[in-house]
Amino acid sequence: MGTAVQQPEVRSSRGPATYRYPPGMRRNLLWLALRKLRPANPIFLFQHLAETYGDIVHYKLAWNHIVFLNHPDYIREILVVQNDNFVKERTVQRTRMLLGEGMITAEGAAHRAQRTAAQPAFHRQRIAEYAGVIVEEAVRLRDSWRNGEQRDIAADMMQLTLNVVARTLFAADLRDEVHELAAAINRIMGLYNFLVMLPAAEWLVHVRPPGLAAFVRARDRIDAVVYRMIDAHQKARIDRGTLLDLMLAASPPEDGHSRQHLRDQVITIFLAGYETVANALSWTWYLLSQHSDCEASFHHEVDTVLQARLPGAEDVPRLRYTENVLAESLRLYPPAWAMGRQARNDFALGDYFLPARTTVLISQFVTHRDPRYFPDPLRFDPNRFSAEGKSRRGKFTYFPFGAGARQCIGESFAWMEGVLILATIAQKWKLRLVPGHPVEPEPLITLRPKYGMRMQMEERSG
Ligand code: HEM
Repeated sequence: MGTAVQQPEVRSSRGPATYRYPPGMRRNLLWLALRKLRPANPIFLFQHLAETYGDIVHYKLAWNHIVFLNHPDYIREILVVQNDNFVKERTVQRTRMLLGEGMITAEGAAHRAQRTAAQPAFHRQRIAEYAGVIVEEAVRLRDSWRNGEQRDIAADMMQLTLNVVARTLFAADLRDEVHELAAAINRIMGLYNFLVMLPAAEWLVHVRPPGLAAFVRARDRIDAVVYRMIDAHQKARIDRGTLLDLMLAASPPEDGHSRQHLRDQVITIFLAGYETVANALSWTWYLLSQHSDCEASFHHEVDTVLQARLPGAEDVPRLRYTENVLAESLRLYPPAWAMGRQARNDFALGDYFLPARTTVLISQFVTHRDPRYFPDPLRFDPNRFSAEGKSRRGKFTYFPFGAGARQCIGESFAWMEGVLILATIAQKWKLRLVPGHPVEPEPLITLRPKYGMRMQMEERSG
């Protein structure tokens, strides 16, 4: 790639500011990508940047300045201290093609209003009420499996978590639509990397040329389900206190715009709330299948805490090891594997001074595998998350749910859902990776297992 060079000071053409860039790659990334005729795998690129240039790295992609960070102090500075000077970076902004103006893409007052309206649905007490539905859905799935059969557990986890989000947050039963919905979302995920690189994709999607027909069709399918859900809710005229009720109450009176606005909010929560958890669970089953000692400790905890009865919200704090297994899985395979921001104004970071519109990138995947914070980083060890292990570590070295004002609103929901699903399924099943099945993380919007996760079901005896 390039060689480490201290970048020269550059005087801004837009004003008197003198920028000072961190060390980094001399070559423009666009040139490297064109030479290889494909974009670099961003995870390899970020790992290379961190290993070669250190905690703060500068490079350019076309005319855009990009800074990649891999130090807790810098990460805190961007996500918390200087948060007001940043908006989501360009590729996130471009997910508006699918998400519209939901909580992930909205900025400023619009974001705050959506977050405030949705907050009651994510309060700890409210979340505990979702436990029954989560366990019910997990039981339905575990009872549909047969001993010795091979399944794509990634697809199973997707359908399970999709049903959970639909029932808990939107009081909707999507059982009949779940296959169609998951297929449409998979279609969009497959096209995502291409779309965010495509110039004027937003306009093209609007015009609907044949080349983008698959994207538009898949989005229309998702929209149809979401609109059906909204209509059914409005017709029923019963306020069940769900997230959808909160969203409806906070929406302006019914018109075309508010309908679209509601759709954006619902679709955002849907996608944010099921994809991530499903991927976390798929990676966790995989890791457990590769580490029989950890799997044995996990089974021991599940069996002794639950004594063969189904888990409830009150069990979650007692399933400590299970939570640590999930935490360690989120460290090694963080579903949100990177985050990006774009500066609104010039800003200082450490010894450097950077221009407005600089893109700042942070990668959970890279920081979580840094040996300075996690010795022997590739080793799967849930005990890193014991109370003692946690107390030794600084906060911004582990951030699977982000941090600051845009921290994941569903974090507590995700922990509870993850622990309950793992425990419920493990009461009955051991999952074994099918020999020879390739396992490779694919960094799309979330970190997915590229070839799915084919596993064989083994019924646990006694
Ligand atoms: C293991 C599961 C999950 C992971 C790893 C995860 C990760 C994240 C991360 C890293 C962010 C911050 C993105 C940024 O700052 O750029 C985020 C935001 C968000 N997450 Fe999650 N999430 C998970 C589960 C959930 C669930 C269950 C829901 C809802 C049911 C949810 C809804 C959201 C929403 C709406 C935002 C945007 C918040 C805002 O900007 O104010 N997430 N998530």
